[in-house]
Amino acid sequence: MSDTARLILEGQEYEFPVLTGAENEKAIDISKLRGTTGYITLDPGFKNTGSTQSGITYLDGENGILRYRGYSIEELAEKASFMEVAYLLIYGDLPNSDQLAYFTDSITHHTLVHENMKRFFDAFPLGAHPMGMLSSMVASLSTFYPESQNPNRDITDIELTIHRLIAKMPTLAAQAYKHNVGLPTMYPKNNLSYVGNFMHMMWGVPAEDYEVDPIIESALNKLFILHADHEQNCSTSTVRVVGSSQANLYSSVSAGVSALWGPLHGGANQAVIEMLEAIRAEGSPLQSWIDRAKDKTDSFRLMGFGHRVYKNFDPRARIIKKAADDVLGQLGINDPVLDIAKQLEEVALHDEYFVKRGLYPNVDFYSGIIYRALGIPTDMFTVMFALGRLPGWIAQWKEMTENREPIGRPRQVYTGATQRDFVALNNRS
Ligand code: CMC
Repeated sequence: MSDTARLILEGQEYEFPVLTGAENEKAIDISKLRGTTGYITLDPGFKNTGSTQSGITYLDGENGILRYRGYSIEELAEKASFMEVAYLLIYGDLPNSDQLAYFTDSITHHTLVHENMKRFFDAFPLGAHPMGMLSSMVASLSTFYPESQNPNRDITDIELTIHRLIAKMPTLAAQAYKHNVGLPTMYPKNNLSYVGNFMHMMWGVPAEDYEVDPIIESALNKLFILHADHEQNCSTSTVRVVGSSQANLYSSVSAGVSALWGPLHGGANQAVIEMLEAIRAEGSPLQSWIDRAKDKTDSFRLMGFGHRVYKNFDPRARIIKKAADDVLGQLGINDPVLDIAKQLEEVALHDEYFVKRGLYPNVDFYSGIIYRALGIPTDMFTVMFALGRLPGWIAQWKEMTENREPIGRPRQVYTGATQRDFVALNNRS
């Protein structure tokens, strides 16, 4: 097979290299396109555009395959701890016991945040959305740790920044929650696991010992792993583009948190529960909601359905659906919203509109039901996604930095006015 692609433009033929990825994915390298032809490509939403060559996550949307550094998501969710997966994503291989002990110990000892940050939280209005607070707080970490701004990309500074960010993100997330509901914040506890410590800071109260429930700890561990990376999605691309200007890791990840917040991306988990609650409250037949989602004059979409890359099924959704059943069963919770979700899925999966477009439940469809069962308020769902996605954002930022990728700067096709002369104010109609 030819390893070049030929393009004929205005009667002239050009050749461009064809690349093949490790899993036989094909790409035409058009990095020299404009220089040789004067043309650019137009691809809104980057539906066909590879922005980088990455060795972190493999995703096959047609066959519902997701692997981190070669390991299947199913196996990692079943057998690994979130710390192992974080290490795997960031450093490329599973840690041996010494490496894991060092990594975990370093993260455990950076969990405190500067006391001044409490004053930032105090300034937010009561009920402030935790994603807005988290994004601001993550960016502000760079002001406390100026070595993160070192543009020379010193390896020791980068390493310290990575460990600090992984360590402090759950502290900030839990503080955002406590501020949102008006409760006193809890200091981290070093004898707990990463997930257990987060639970303690979320649900613990001063002067009382918080007991970590292993069912909840294990469910959160699994959820974090399932969210840990997803190649070049909206927030990850944001992190890479912001980082490509040599912005520090904290600022880059803060931008990722903001990108994740939108309801078409990570904010969908909150939107799903709100939709299911509305269906429940209204009591109208499910078909009427499906009809609305299909109606092009109605802006309503079935939240938690569809994916840019998965057109068959989302492997994360399969695992989460089972986990939702398990967790609710173990905790003895009967959530009517879970039944509505299952009915909605059934109806949508047999409806021609959804089948034809390959619209299946995605990761966000069932995750909110677990979060609810675990006692996490709806406003915090996307924060949970952010906590899980953090190692992926870091790994992608680090890879981009190590590869010394050029600054991200797309082109455009200009459609505005052509040159015209300035008209004095009194001569304008
Ligand atoms: N409900 C109804 N119709 C839909 C939906 C939906 N949830 N999703 C896509 N469609 C239709 C869309 O109208 C279009 O129809 P047509 O071809 O007739 O114009 C077709 O399906 C293709 O959709 P698209 O918007 O071109 O696809 P996209 O790749 O640009 O968008 C998406 C992907 C995830 C933004 C979209 O499916 C969506 O809005 N889903 C609901 C929000 C959601 O659940 N987001 C979470 C995604 S998973 C978590 C993550 O990793 O971010």
